[in-house]
Amino acid sequence: MQATVTTLQEMRDRGERIVAITAYDAATARIVDAAGVSVILVGDSLGMVFLGHKTTLPVRLEDILYHTRAVARGRRQALVVADMPFMTYQGSAEQAMENAGRLVQEGGAHAVKLEGGVVIADTIRRLADAGVAVMGHVGLTPQSVHRLGGFRVQGRSLSAAKALVADARAVAEAGAFAVVLECIPDLVAREITERLRVPTIGIGAGVHCSGEIQVVTDVLGLTRGRLPKHAKSYLELSSLMEDAVGRYVDEVKRGAFPGPEQAFSTDPDLARALREEANDE
Ligand code: KIV
Repeated sequence: MQATVTTLQEMRDRGERIVAITAYDAATARIVDAAGVSVILVGDSLGMVFLGHKTTLPVRLEDILYHTRAVARGRRQALVVADMPFMTYQGSAEQAMENAGRLVQEGGAHAVKLEGGVVIADTIRRLADAGVAVMGHVGLTPQSVHRLGGFRVQGRSLSAAKALVADARAVAEAGAFAVVLECIPDLVAREITERLRVPTIGIGAGVHCSGEIQVVTDVLGLTRGRLPKHAKSYLELSSLMEDAVGRYVDEVKRGAFPGPEQAFSTDPDLARALREEANDE
């Protein structure tokens, strides 16, 4: 079944949890799609986990466009959401409309994701009114990392929790079809989930959300260094890859690869003619 904003809403309404994951290329998109995720996010996390930056801030619209095209080619049934990078939508609703339009028209995204709450609600409304499917994102919003003083859990005090509820509400009321809740206390996430009519998708927000999203490199064990507290690796892909490439290096050095199975056979007459020509020289 094709995932759409309607099927996601139906899943939330019948209490079926929604599974989302990031992907940045066609091969991974094909795999996570076949595994049954409903949403593939081309997250600006790609700047950190794929491009080697320390934050998501250097990611440009062209980067997300390029990777969204690849993911759109690999997906079969999942909804493809493209992240709007830092400063591609905060300037004005017009700027957001133009850039969201490119992600949908040129990238093949079904939806876009914007970070922010009350302050970005009017922009979300403009996009939604224009027919763009918008996913909200509140709590720890990595594009504001310097303003937040680091990648820290949000909504820990009563006033901060109340502000989060107001942010999530504003985004949903503006027309977002779902809201990502990142790194907030689980009971605050539960409170928000109960108050919204649209699905909440948690990451570091506990089990009470309508669904979960994780970064694919964390899930596969491709992350370098310490895993975030909210993440879990289901595979140690880094070690498996290092081991496989190490064996390849070893076989090439020993002359064990390529072997006879990988060789393209040579016509014996051609081989003989080449040898005779070499002997004549
Ligand atoms: O960029 C991203 O991967 C995200 C998720 C962590 C929600 O925004």
